[in-house]
Amino acid sequence: MNFSKELLAETEYVNRVIAKYLPAEEGFQKTVISAMNYSMKAGGKRLRPLMMYKSYLAFGGDEAVIEPFMAAMEMIHTHSLIHDDLPALDNDDYRRGRLTTHKVYGEAMGILAGDALLNYAYEVMLQAFDMTEYKERVVRAMRLISSKTGIYGMLGGQCTDVENDGRPLDEALLNFIHIHKTSALIEAPLAAGAILAGASEEQAEQMEQAGRRIGLAFQITDDILDVTGDEKTLGKPVHSDEKNGKTTYVVLKGLKKSRQTAEALLREASDIMTASGGSTEFLCLLAESLTGRRK
Ligand code: IPE
Ligand code: IPE
Ligand code: MG
Ligand code: MG
Ligand code: MG
Repeated sequence: MNFSKELLAETEYVNRVIAKYLPAEEGFQKTVISAMNYSMKAGGKRLRPLMMYKSYLAFGGDEAVIEPFMAAMEMIHTHSLIHDDLPALDNDDYRRGRLTTHKVYGEAMGILAGDALLNYAYEVMLQAFDMTEYKERVVRAMRLISSKTGIYGMLGGQCTDVENDGRPLDEALLNFIHIHKTSALIEAPLAAGAILAGASEEQAEQMEQAGRRIGLAFQITDDILDVTGDEKTLGKPVHSDEKNGKTTYVVLKGLKKSRQTAEALLREASDIMTASGGSTEFLCLLAESLTGRRK
């Protein structure tokens, strides 16, 4: 199968897995549940659960235990987007081609739906304990995912990002922000997939290192697309960074240098994954395909 056909087929599989784990919209709390599902069902590229699944396969994983982890990874990511779009943060009205959650359900429900998705991710991940004999792998994967999500990961990056709206940044601080707000949630699925499959510590570490570079390249490209992208294709507004006075890679380095940096990082990521000894061919192609992405 060629890469784009496989990408399509595997993304459909990821969507089926996610659908299986969404909470039922019933009970007195059904408004918040439908707000949670609204953004989850809007689609998105599903890159993080896809990377987790492919990393799991690359290191020989063959159990359904990966599925709750895949769904949970997308819930954590989607929570970060719902909150990122809130008026107090980036204040954006469109996401994944639809009005943002707070625009449809109101700000209170937007905040609560984000919280609820983050917590539900852990409820879902805990189901994995009943699906495998390898309980200690589940613990290690959850430990990694929780720390990559929290103040030493994505949330630390988001806080540093909003705190610096309207201020000039140097490259070191911008790299800190990008590596935390974005790389952390790409390191997590790549390394957790490997851990759940029984890869060695060193291999999990290599997947984390690759994820760091993919994430940084991904955010640099996101900064580029905020300037050069097409709103319809992206499914979210352009010029959001300028509106919020953010110092981005484009501001600091210009378009050309930013593109070159992203390409070099993705090549490095590919080399690291290949050196890990896992069957990472698809993941390398996926990383390389991100150089030219338009959404
Ligand atoms: C958007 O992530 C947030 C960033 C880290 C730039 P994605 O571009 O993966 O968003 P979806 O999941 O496809 O909507
Ligand atoms: C946010 O970066 C990354 C998250 C952790 C949500 P951005 O604020 O640039 O993401 P977009 O452009 O709104 O998707
Ligand atoms: Mg933001
Ligand atoms: Mg944003
Ligand atoms: Mg952006």
